[in-house]
Amino acid sequence: MSNPDTISSYSLYERVGRTKTRRRAAAAAAAAIRTKMGRSVLSHFLSLSTNPPRFSAPLSCSHIRTSYFKKRTGGTPSLQSPAHLPAGFRCLCTTSAPQTYSSDGPPSSVKKRVVSGVQPTGNIHLGNYLGAIKNWTSLQDTYETLFFIVDLHAITLPYDAQQLSKTTRNTAAIYLACGVDPSKASVFVQSHVRAHVELMWLLSSEARIGRLSRMIQFKEKSRKAGDENVSVALLTYPVLMASDILLYQSDLVPVGEDQTQHLELTRELAERVNNLFGGRKWKKMGGRGGALFKVPEALIPPAGARVMSLTDGLSKMSKSAPSDQSRINLLDPKDVIANKIKRCKTDSFPGMEFDNPNRPECSNLLSIYQLVTGKTKEEVAQECIDMNWGTFKTNLADALIDHLHPIQARYNDITSDATYLDKVLSEGARKAANIADATLNNVYQAMGFLPR
Ligand code: AMP
Ligand code: TRP
Repeated sequence: MSNPDTISSYSLYERVGRTKTRRRAAAAAAAAIRTKMGRSVLSHFLSLSTNPPRFSAPLSCSHIRTSYFKKRTGGTPSLQSPAHLPAGFRCLCTTSAPQTYSSDGPPSSVKKRVVSGVQPTGNIHLGNYLGAIKNWTSLQDTYETLFFIVDLHAITLPYDAQQLSKTTRNTAAIYLACGVDPSKASVFVQSHVRAHVELMWLLSSEARIGRLSRMIQFKEKSRKAGDENVSVALLTYPVLMASDILLYQSDLVPVGEDQTQHLELTRELAERVNNLFGGRKWKKMGGRGGALFKVPEALIPPAGARVMSLTDGLSKMSKSAPSDQSRINLLDPKDVIANKIKRCKTDSFPGMEFDNPNRPECSNLLSIYQLVTGKTKEEVAQECIDMNWGTFKTNLADALIDHLHPIQARYNDITSDATYLDKVLSEGARKAANIADATLNNVYQAMGFLPR
């Protein structure tokens, strides 16, 4: 994509979790951009012209705002390929490399920081992979990345203590098998960095019970668990997630769509604590002054943000769905994958098409096919337009098996060498703790605690 004006060929990434004011400004900016794009989603991302990988790079809010105001004031926004983006990436911005707050000093020209994690519960499935993990691997080349296994989150619902450490290791192995590279990203176990729980406690003094009890996931999960069985941890879970993110002064958080509300809360907490304890007040306490936390943004992929169940195109693919037929697990053997695709829900319309609201299963499976083949949506739509379900399912099963097979082979290699994984996780935790402790100490100081 060398032509800066090829806005219609942008792929879309949505950044979610703005404050109301910023949301209004962003909506106006989006409207301005949309007219040119003819697309209905706020776009902040440009796609790679090459294939594969098809991944796009984010713009910071300041980039979007600058270009928006430039537009409004008659300035010319320019599409650039700044040094902080990988080759082939473009961003609509007017600034050079973005600045990041390190937790321990003034803004510096360092890489933006990206964090994310998955719970070590159940089987990691195609939704986790396409919505989150697959995207991490493209980010690690450009950003400073930290990927953790959120074991502390796994105890918010009844769980098997005998299995937790095993599933935690296996989830780490899946990260690596999917392409997370420990020479680029810090990979670690959440509970190995004690600051997560400590900061959570500090943040929870500013989190409100009413707000937490209205969170969609809390309501859904507590309804399923039966109200008598709902733990306090299930309610306060989003505060722990905010701690996971804010500890690292994260810029971007690549997650599936179901996490957007948690990111909103994270942003609110960051802003509230910054306002209450940061700036001059922190300076008076002997601190640096300025923001205690960076306010992060969710990074939601254009496709794969919400992979749906194989047995019901209107329900999300989920680890906890009772039927294993509803999901493709990353470690499913070939014959199981083929069988699940063969038996998955279809419809009686002719041909295959995206975005027909009456055909949710068709759209979902086409998106999966698109992502595992690395083709564009347009290419897939064209290729499959006249296909019948039988032919499409065979093609989809083959594509899935081809895509997952190398991941499974790497997984087997990684898990056969326990010391390698241990080393990766302890090195990851060591690096993470350095960053996390600096943030935590600042927050203790700003909140008025007696220094140790
Ligand atoms: P969890 O399994 O809840 O730990 O989710 C881990 C990551 O996978 C999060 O970023 C989720 O948003 C993402 N995720 C979970 N299920 C799906 C799905 N069906 N489609 C897309 N992303 C998903
Ligand atoms: N809550 C997320 C989920 O269930 C997992 C998670 C915990 C997470 N902490 C995080 C994701 C921090 C991104 C960043 O999927």
